[in-house]
Amino acid sequence: MVECAVDELDVIVIDAGGGSLKVGFSGEDLPRTVLSTAMSVVTEIPEDDEGNVDTTAQPKTLTYFGDEALQNASKGTLKLPLKRGLLHDKDSLEDVLEHALRSLLKVDYEELPILLIDSPLTPQHQRDFLAEMLFEKFKVRSLAMMNSAVLSLFSTGRTRGMVVEMGHGVTHAVPVFEGFAIPHATFRMDYGGQDITDAVQKIFKELPSLTAYQQHAHPWVMRSLKESLCHVAPHSLKEQLASEDPASDEERSFELPDGTIVQVDQQLRYGAPEILFAGGDRSLPKITQMGLNACDLDFRLDLVRNLVLAGGTSMIPGLSERIRNEMQMLVPPDLHRQMEVILDSQRKYSAWIGGSMFASLSTFEHFLITKQDYEEGKSSLSGVVARKAW
Ligand SMILES: Nc1ncnc2c1ncn2[C@@H]1O[C@H](COP(=O)(O)OP(=O)(O)OP(=O)(O)O)[C@@H](O)[C@H]1O
Ligand SMILES: [Mg+2]
Repeated sequence: MVECAVDELDVIVIDAGGGSLKVGFSGEDLPRTVLSTAMSVVTEIPEDDEGNVDTTAQPKTLTYFGDEALQNASKGTLKLPLKRGLLHDKDSLEDVLEHALRSLLKVDYEELPILLIDSPLTPQHQRDFLAEMLFEKFKVRSLAMMNSAVLSLFSTGRTRGMVVEMGHGVTHAVPVFEGFAIPHATFRMDYGGQDITDAVQKIFKELPSLTAYQQHAHPWVMRSLKESLCHVAPHSLKEQLASEDPASDEERSFELPDGTIVQVDQQLRYGAPEILFAGGDRSLPKITQMGLNACDLDFRLDLVRNLVLAGGTSMIPGLSERIRNEMQMLVPPDLHRQMEVILDSQRKYSAWIGGSMFASLSTFEHFLITKQDYEEGKSSLSGVVARKAW
Protein backbone atom coordinates (compact mmCIF):
# COMPACT_ATOMS: atom_id res chain seq x y z
CA MET A 1 0.00 0.00 0.00
CA VAL A 2 1.23 3.50 -0.82
CA GLU A 3 2.11 5.57 2.21
CA CYS A 4 -0.31 8.44 2.71
CA ALA A 5 1.11 11.57 4.34
CA VAL A 6 -2.10 13.57 4.67
CA ASP A 7 -4.69 13.83 7.38
CA GLU A 8 -8.34 12.85 7.24
CA LEU A 9 -9.62 16.32 6.39
CA ASP A 10 -7.69 16.78 3.18
CA VAL A 11 -9.40 16.79 -0.16
CA ILE A 12 -7.55 15.74 -3.32
CA VAL A 13 -7.89 18.59 -5.80
CA ILE A 14 -7.54 17.66 -9.48
CA ASP A 15 -7.62 20.13 -12.36
CA ALA A 16 -7.85 17.94 -15.44
CA GLY A 17 -6.76 20.10 -18.38
CA GLY A 18 -5.98 19.03 -21.91
CA GLY A 19 -2.44 20.38 -21.55
CA SER A 20 -1.66 19.51 -17.95
CA LEU A 21 -3.09 17.69 -15.02
CA LYS A 22 -2.63 19.55 -11.76
CA VAL A 23 -3.05 17.53 -8.57
CA GLY A 24 -2.55 18.28 -4.90
CA PHE A 25 -4.27 18.76 -1.57
CA SER A 26 -6.81 21.29 -0.36
CA GLY A 27 -5.46 24.11 1.77
CA GLU A 28 -2.12 24.12 -0.06
CA ASP A 29 -0.92 27.08 -2.10
CA LEU A 30 0.00 25.23 -5.28
CA PRO A 31 -0.55 21.82 -6.86
CA ARG A 32 2.05 19.30 -5.74
CA THR A 33 2.28 17.72 -9.17
CA VAL A 34 1.80 19.19 -12.63
CA LEU A 35 1.99 16.61 -15.40
CA SER A 36 1.47 17.03 -19.15
CA THR A 37 -1.78 15.18 -19.87
CA ALA A 38 -0.23 12.63 -22.17
CA MET A 39 1.04 9.09 -22.28
CA SER A 40 2.91 7.14 -24.92
CA VAL A 41 3.46 3.46 -25.37
CA VAL A 42 6.72 2.49 -27.02
CA THR A 43 7.74 -0.99 -28.06
CA GLU A 44 11.52 -1.36 -28.05
CA ILE A 45 13.46 -4.20 -29.54
CA PRO A 46 16.53 -4.71 -27.35
CA GLU A 47 19.95 -4.21 -28.91
CA ASP A 48 23.06 -6.28 -28.34
CA ASP A 49 26.36 -4.86 -26.99
CA GLU A 50 27.32 -3.59 -30.45
CA GLY A 51 24.08 -1.69 -30.92
CA ASN A 52 22.55 -4.16 -33.39
CA VAL A 53 18.93 -5.26 -33.07
CA ASP A 54 18.87 -8.46 -31.00
CA THR A 55 16.38 -10.63 -32.88
CA THR A 56 16.47 -13.31 -30.17
CA ALA A 57 15.31 -10.96 -27.38
CA GLN A 58 11.67 -10.27 -26.47
CA PRO A 59 10.46 -6.74 -27.40
CA LYS A 60 9.92 -4.49 -24.36
CA THR A 61 6.86 -2.28 -23.99
CA LEU A 62 7.55 0.98 -22.20
CA THR A 63 4.93 3.45 -21.01
CA TYR A 64 5.83 7.09 -20.61
CA PHE A 65 3.76 9.82 -18.97
CA GLY A 66 3.80 13.61 -19.11
CA ASP A 67 6.65 15.39 -20.88
CA GLU A 68 8.49 12.09 -21.34
CA ALA A 69 5.49 10.85 -23.31
CA LEU A 70 5.67 13.91 -25.58
CA GLN A 71 9.40 13.48 -26.05
CA ASN A 72 9.03 9.80 -26.97
CA ALA A 73 5.94 10.33 -29.10
CA SER A 74 7.69 9.68 -32.41
CA LYS A 75 8.91 6.25 -31.23
CA GLY A 76 5.46 4.87 -30.42
CA THR A 77 1.83 5.78 -29.95
CA LEU A 78 1.00 9.08 -28.28
CA LYS A 79 -2.29 9.17 -26.39
CA LEU A 80 -3.89 12.47 -25.45
CA PRO A 81 -6.83 11.90 -23.07
CA LEU A 82 -8.44 15.33 -23.48
CA LYS A 83 -8.59 17.54 -26.54
CA ARG A 84 -10.11 21.01 -26.60
CA GLY A 85 -11.76 20.39 -23.23
CA LEU A 86 -13.41 17.18 -24.39
CA LEU A 87 -12.74 13.59 -23.51
CA HIS A 88 -10.80 12.07 -26.36
CA ASP A 89 -9.37 8.81 -25.01
CA LYS A 90 -11.04 7.39 -21.90
CA ASP A 91 -8.55 4.62 -21.19
CA SER A 92 -5.53 6.87 -21.29
CA LEU A 93 -7.26 9.40 -19.01
CA GLU A 94 -7.65 6.64 -16.46
CA ASP A 95 -3.99 5.63 -16.81
CA VAL A 96 -2.63 9.19 -16.61
CA LEU A 97 -4.79 10.01 -13.58
CA GLU A 98 -3.84 6.80 -11.83
CA HIS A 99 -0.17 7.56 -12.48
CA ALA A 100 -0.50 11.14 -11.21
CA LEU A 101 -2.30 10.14 -8.01
CA ARG A 102 -0.65 6.87 -7.15
CA SER A 103 2.92 7.29 -8.38
CA LEU A 104 3.46 11.05 -8.18
CA LEU A 105 1.12 12.32 -5.46
CA LYS A 106 1.52 9.01 -3.62
CA VAL A 107 -1.92 9.05 -2.13
CA ASP A 108 -4.48 6.37 -1.31
CA TYR A 109 -7.24 8.16 -3.19
CA GLU A 110 -9.91 5.71 -2.02
CA GLU A 111 -9.61 7.33 1.41
CA LEU A 112 -10.16 10.98 0.60
CA PRO A 113 -12.84 13.16 -0.96
CA ILE A 114 -12.01 14.40 -4.46
CA LEU A 115 -12.66 17.75 -6.08
CA LEU A 116 -12.50 17.39 -9.85
CA ILE A 117 -12.22 20.67 -11.75
CA ASP A 118 -13.28 20.69 -15.38
CA SER A 119 -13.80 23.18 -18.18
CA PRO A 120 -16.81 25.49 -18.38
CA LEU A 121 -19.50 23.97 -20.63
CA THR A 122 -18.24 20.42 -20.12
CA PRO A 123 -21.01 18.23 -21.56
CA GLN A 124 -23.10 16.37 -19.01
CA HIS A 125 -22.28 12.95 -20.50
CA GLN A 126 -18.57 13.68 -19.95
CA ARG A 127 -19.17 14.54 -16.30
CA ASP A 128 -21.25 11.37 -15.93
CA PHE A 129 -18.43 9.31 -17.39
CA LEU A 130 -15.86 10.93 -15.08
CA ALA A 131 -18.06 10.29 -12.04
CA GLU A 132 -18.53 6.69 -13.08
CA MET A 133 -14.80 6.24 -13.62
CA LEU A 134 -13.90 7.68 -10.23
CA PHE A 135 -16.54 5.73 -8.29
CA GLU A 136 -16.33 2.44 -10.16
CA LYS A 137 -12.67 2.17 -11.14
CA PHE A 138 -10.91 4.38 -8.61
CA LYS A 139 -13.36 3.45 -5.84
CA VAL A 140 -13.35 6.95 -4.38
CA ARG A 141 -15.59 7.64 -1.42
CA SER A 142 -16.94 11.05 -2.45
CA LEU A 143 -16.59 13.48 -5.30
CA ALA A 144 -17.37 17.11 -6.14
CA MET A 145 -17.16 18.57 -9.65
CA MET A 146 -16.67 22.24 -10.32
CA ASN A 147 -16.28 24.69 -13.12
CA SER A 148 -12.72 25.95 -13.51
CA ALA A 149 -13.73 29.56 -14.26
CA VAL A 150 -15.69 29.95 -11.03
CA LEU A 151 -12.73 28.62 -9.07
CA SER A 152 -10.28 30.84 -10.94
CA LEU A 153 -12.38 33.84 -9.90
CA PHE A 154 -12.59 32.53 -6.36
CA SER A 155 -8.77 32.32 -6.24
CA THR A 156 -8.65 36.12 -6.60
CA GLY A 157 -11.06 36.58 -3.68
CA ARG A 158 -14.01 37.45 -5.95
CA THR A 159 -17.42 35.90 -6.54
CA ARG A 160 -18.49 38.30 -9.32
CA GLY A 161 -16.57 38.99 -12.45
CA MET A 162 -15.79 38.10 -16.03
CA VAL A 163 -13.27 35.28 -16.19
CA VAL A 164 -11.31 34.89 -19.39
CA GLU A 165 -9.75 31.50 -18.95
CA MET A 166 -7.08 30.58 -21.45
CA GLY A 167 -5.87 27.02 -21.37
CA HIS A 168 -4.04 24.71 -23.73
CA GLY A 169 -6.83 23.78 -26.12
CA VAL A 170 -9.73 26.08 -25.26
CA THR A 171 -10.43 29.62 -24.13
CA HIS A 172 -13.65 30.67 -22.42
CA ALA A 173 -15.19 33.97 -21.43
CA VAL A 174 -17.36 33.22 -18.40
CA PRO A 175 -19.44 35.80 -16.53
CA VAL A 176 -19.85 34.74 -12.91
CA PHE A 177 -22.52 36.12 -10.60
CA GLU A 178 -22.32 35.38 -6.87
CA GLY A 179 -20.26 32.28 -7.52
CA PHE A 180 -22.43 30.92 -10.33
CA ALA A 181 -21.23 30.80 -13.92
CA ILE A 182 -23.88 31.98 -16.36
CA PRO A 183 -24.04 29.25 -19.02
CA HIS A 184 -26.03 31.17 -21.65
CA ALA A 185 -23.49 34.01 -21.44
CA THR A 186 -20.43 31.75 -21.56
CA PHE A 187 -18.57 31.79 -24.87
CA ARG A 188 -15.80 29.54 -26.00
CA MET A 189 -13.22 29.47 -28.74
CA ASP A 190 -11.21 26.44 -29.74
CA TYR A 191 -7.88 28.20 -29.51
CA GLY A 192 -5.36 28.08 -26.73
CA GLY A 193 -1.70 27.50 -25.91
CA GLN A 194 -1.38 24.53 -28.25
CA ASP A 195 -2.27 26.71 -31.23
CA ILE A 196 0.34 29.28 -30.24
CA THR A 197 2.91 26.49 -29.94
CA ASP A 198 1.89 25.23 -33.40
CA ALA A 199 2.25 28.76 -34.77
CA VAL A 200 5.70 29.07 -33.16
CA GLN A 201 6.70 25.80 -34.80
CA LYS A 202 5.44 26.89 -38.20
CA ILE A 203 7.20 30.27 -38.07
CA PHE A 204 10.37 28.66 -36.67
CA LYS A 205 10.54 26.34 -39.67
CA GLU A 206 9.96 29.16 -42.13
CA LEU A 207 12.28 31.84 -40.78
CA PRO A 208 15.46 31.98 -42.90
CA SER A 209 17.51 32.90 -39.81
CA LEU A 210 16.48 29.63 -38.12
CA THR A 211 16.42 27.11 -40.98
CA ALA A 212 19.72 25.59 -39.85
CA TYR A 213 18.07 24.52 -36.59
CA GLN A 214 15.02 22.73 -38.02
CA GLN A 215 15.85 19.46 -36.28
CA HIS A 216 14.95 21.16 -32.98
CA ALA A 217 11.43 22.13 -34.02
CA HIS A 218 9.78 19.52 -31.77
CA PRO A 219 6.55 20.55 -30.07
CA TRP A 220 8.01 20.44 -26.56
CA VAL A 221 10.99 22.60 -27.57
CA MET A 222 8.64 25.04 -29.31
CA ARG A 223 6.44 25.13 -26.19
CA SER A 224 9.43 26.08 -24.12
CA LEU A 225 10.42 28.76 -26.66
CA LYS A 226 6.87 30.14 -26.54
CA GLU A 227 6.77 30.20 -22.73
CA SER A 228 10.08 32.01 -22.47
CA LEU A 229 9.95 34.49 -25.37
CA CYS A 230 6.50 35.08 -26.80
CA HIS A 231 4.78 38.40 -26.24
CA VAL A 232 1.48 39.91 -27.31
CA ALA A 233 1.77 43.05 -29.44
CA PRO A 234 0.08 46.04 -27.71
CA HIS A 235 -1.96 47.09 -30.76
CA SER A 236 -1.37 44.89 -33.80
CA LEU A 237 1.35 42.74 -35.24
CA LYS A 238 1.73 45.07 -38.20
CA GLU A 239 2.41 48.05 -35.96
CA GLN A 240 4.78 46.00 -33.82
CA LEU A 241 6.82 44.80 -36.78
CA ALA A 242 7.07 48.34 -38.13
CA SER A 243 8.67 49.50 -34.90
CA GLU A 244 12.11 48.84 -33.47
CA ASP A 245 12.42 45.53 -31.58
CA PRO A 246 12.24 46.61 -27.93
CA ALA A 247 13.90 43.44 -26.59
CA SER A 248 17.51 43.20 -25.45
CA ASP A 249 19.75 40.44 -26.86
CA GLU A 250 19.12 38.43 -23.72
CA GLU A 251 15.34 38.77 -24.06
CA ARG A 252 15.55 37.45 -27.61
CA SER A 253 17.87 34.50 -26.89
CA PHE A 254 16.75 30.93 -26.71
CA GLU A 255 18.85 27.90 -25.88
CA LEU A 256 18.15 24.88 -28.07
CA PRO A 257 18.42 21.35 -26.60
CA ASP A 258 21.99 20.95 -27.93
CA GLY A 259 23.11 24.12 -26.12
CA THR A 260 23.13 26.38 -29.19
CA ILE A 261 21.81 29.89 -28.46
CA VAL A 262 19.67 31.40 -31.20
CA GLN A 263 18.29 34.92 -31.52
CA VAL A 264 14.55 34.97 -32.15
CA ASP A 265 13.06 37.90 -34.03
CA GLN A 266 9.81 39.77 -33.57
CA GLN A 267 7.97 37.87 -36.29
CA LEU A 268 8.06 34.75 -34.17
CA ARG A 269 7.84 36.28 -30.69
CA TYR A 270 4.89 38.56 -31.45
CA GLY A 271 3.47 36.76 -34.48
CA ALA A 272 2.56 33.40 -32.89
CA PRO A 273 0.20 34.75 -30.16
CA GLU A 274 -1.76 36.70 -32.80
CA ILE A 275 -3.81 33.55 -33.32
CA LEU A 276 -5.78 34.58 -30.22
CA PHE A 277 -6.91 37.77 -31.94
CA ALA A 278 -7.36 36.57 -35.50
CA GLY A 279 -10.49 34.42 -35.38
CA GLY A 280 -13.19 37.01 -36.19
CA ASP A 281 -16.17 36.01 -34.06
CA ARG A 282 -13.99 33.60 -32.18
CA SER A 283 -11.23 35.91 -31.00
CA LEU A 284 -10.35 36.71 -27.41
CA PRO A 285 -11.84 40.23 -27.39
CA LYS A 286 -14.91 39.09 -29.32
CA ILE A 287 -15.90 36.26 -26.96
CA THR A 288 -15.37 38.63 -24.04
CA GLN A 289 -17.66 41.17 -25.68
CA MET A 290 -20.27 38.48 -26.43
CA GLY A 291 -20.18 37.34 -22.80
CA LEU A 292 -20.70 40.93 -21.61
CA ASN A 293 -23.53 41.59 -24.05
CA ALA A 294 -25.35 38.44 -23.00
CA CYS A 295 -25.60 39.73 -19.42
CA ASP A 296 -27.98 42.28 -17.89
CA LEU A 297 -26.97 45.90 -18.40
CA ASP A 298 -26.82 46.41 -14.62
CA PHE A 299 -24.33 43.63 -14.21
CA ARG A 300 -21.91 44.66 -16.98
CA LEU A 301 -20.16 47.28 -14.86
CA ASP A 302 -19.28 44.64 -12.24
CA LEU A 303 -17.96 42.43 -15.00
CA VAL A 304 -15.66 44.98 -16.63
CA ARG A 305 -14.36 46.08 -13.24
CA ASN A 306 -13.40 42.50 -12.53
CA LEU A 307 -12.03 41.13 -15.77
CA VAL A 308 -9.89 38.26 -14.53
CA LEU A 309 -7.38 36.59 -16.85
CA ALA A 310 -6.66 33.00 -15.87
CA GLY A 311 -5.00 29.80 -17.10
CA GLY A 312 -1.53 28.99 -18.43
CA THR A 313 -1.87 30.93 -21.69
CA SER A 314 -2.73 34.12 -19.78
CA MET A 315 0.94 34.15 -18.69
CA ILE A 316 2.01 35.61 -22.06
CA PRO A 317 3.19 39.15 -21.39
CA GLY A 318 1.31 42.01 -23.02
CA LEU A 319 -2.16 40.39 -22.95
CA SER A 320 -3.72 42.78 -20.53
CA GLU A 321 -2.72 45.88 -22.52
CA ARG A 322 -3.87 44.37 -25.83
CA ILE A 323 -7.24 43.31 -24.41
CA ARG A 324 -7.81 46.79 -23.03
CA ASN A 325 -6.91 48.31 -26.38
CA GLU A 326 -9.14 46.00 -28.40
CA MET A 327 -12.07 46.24 -26.00
CA GLN A 328 -12.06 49.99 -26.53
CA MET A 329 -13.60 49.35 -29.94
CA LEU A 330 -16.08 46.78 -28.63
CA VAL A 331 -17.67 48.28 -25.52
CA PRO A 332 -19.18 51.71 -24.83
CA PRO A 333 -16.68 54.34 -23.53
CA ASP A 334 -18.29 54.59 -20.07
CA LEU A 335 -17.79 50.87 -19.53
CA HIS A 336 -14.31 50.91 -21.02
CA ARG A 337 -13.19 53.64 -18.66
CA GLN A 338 -14.08 51.40 -15.73
CA MET A 339 -12.36 48.32 -17.09
CA GLU A 340 -9.92 46.67 -14.74
CA VAL A 341 -7.93 43.66 -15.92
CA ILE A 342 -6.88 41.44 -13.02
CA LEU A 343 -3.64 39.52 -13.44
CA ASP A 344 -2.84 37.40 -10.43
CA SER A 345 0.80 36.27 -10.31
CA GLN A 346 -0.33 32.64 -9.79
CA ARG A 347 -2.91 32.69 -12.58
CA LYS A 348 -1.29 29.75 -14.34
CA TYR A 349 -2.82 27.56 -11.63
CA SER A 350 -5.75 29.78 -10.69
CA ALA A 351 -8.46 27.12 -11.06
CA TRP A 352 -6.51 24.65 -8.95
CA ILE A 353 -5.77 27.31 -6.31
CA GLY A 354 -9.45 28.33 -6.16
CA GLY A 355 -10.32 24.64 -5.81
CA SER A 356 -7.82 24.22 -2.99
CA MET A 357 -9.36 27.21 -1.18
CA PHE A 358 -12.94 26.13 -1.81
CA ALA A 359 -12.35 22.55 -0.68
CA SER A 360 -10.97 23.90 2.62
CA LEU A 361 -14.27 25.59 3.50
CA SER A 362 -16.62 23.82 5.90
CA THR A 363 -19.43 24.23 3.36
CA PHE A 364 -17.55 22.15 0.82
CA GLU A 365 -19.08 18.91 2.04
CA HIS A 366 -22.50 20.04 0.74
CA PHE A 367 -21.13 19.79 -2.77
CA LEU A 368 -19.93 16.22 -2.39
CA ILE A 369 -21.61 13.31 -4.14
CA THR A 370 -21.02 10.41 -1.78
CA LYS A 371 -20.60 6.82 -2.83
CA GLN A 372 -24.06 6.23 -1.40
CA ASP A 373 -25.60 9.09 -3.48
CA TYR A 374 -23.92 7.59 -6.49
CA GLU A 375 -25.14 4.04 -5.82
CA GLU A 376 -28.68 5.24 -5.15
CA GLY A 377 -28.77 7.48 -8.21
CA LYS A 378 -27.13 5.04 -10.62
CA SER A 379 -30.33 4.50 -12.60
CA SER A 380 -30.32 8.20 -13.38
CA LEU A 381 -26.70 9.14 -12.92
CA SER A 382 -27.04 12.43 -14.81
CA GLY A 383 -29.57 13.51 -12.23
CA VAL A 384 -27.19 13.07 -9.31
CA VAL A 385 -24.12 14.51 -11.01
CA ALA A 386 -25.96 17.41 -12.67
CA ARG A 387 -27.69 18.36 -9.41
CA LYS A 388 -24.48 18.51 -7.43
CA ALA A 389 -21.89 19.52 -10.05
CA TRP A 390 -21.29 23.24 -10.05
N1 LIG B 1 4.73 31.48 -19.28
C1 LIG B 1 3.91 31.06 -20.24
N2 LIG B 1 3.76 31.75 -21.38
C2 LIG B 1 2.94 31.31 -22.36
N3 LIG B 1 2.20 30.20 -22.29
C3 LIG B 1 2.30 29.47 -21.17
C4 LIG B 1 3.13 29.85 -20.08
N4 LIG B 1 3.02 28.92 -19.10
C5 LIG B 1 2.16 28.00 -19.56
N5 LIG B 1 1.72 28.32 -20.79
C6 LIG B 1 0.83 27.55 -21.66
O1 LIG B 1 -0.41 27.35 -21.02
C7 LIG B 1 -1.01 26.16 -21.54
C8 LIG B 1 -1.50 25.33 -20.37
O2 LIG B 1 -2.42 26.10 -19.65
P1 LIG B 1 -3.46 25.38 -18.69
O3 LIG B 1 -2.71 24.49 -17.76
O4 LIG B 1 -4.31 26.45 -18.12
O5 LIG B 1 -4.26 24.51 -19.74
P2 LIG B 1 -5.07 23.19 -19.48
O6 LIG B 1 -5.92 23.37 -18.29
O7 LIG B 1 -4.13 22.04 -19.45
O8 LIG B 1 -5.90 23.09 -20.84
P3 LIG B 1 -7.45 23.31 -21.14
O9 LIG B 1 -8.02 24.15 -20.02
O10 LIG B 1 -7.46 24.03 -22.45
O11 LIG B 1 -8.03 21.94 -21.23
C9 LIG B 1 0.07 25.43 -22.33
O12 LIG B 1 -0.17 25.61 -23.71
C10 LIG B 1 1.33 26.15 -21.90
O13 LIG B 1 2.35 26.10 -22.88
MG1 LIG C 1 -7.78 24.22 -17.95
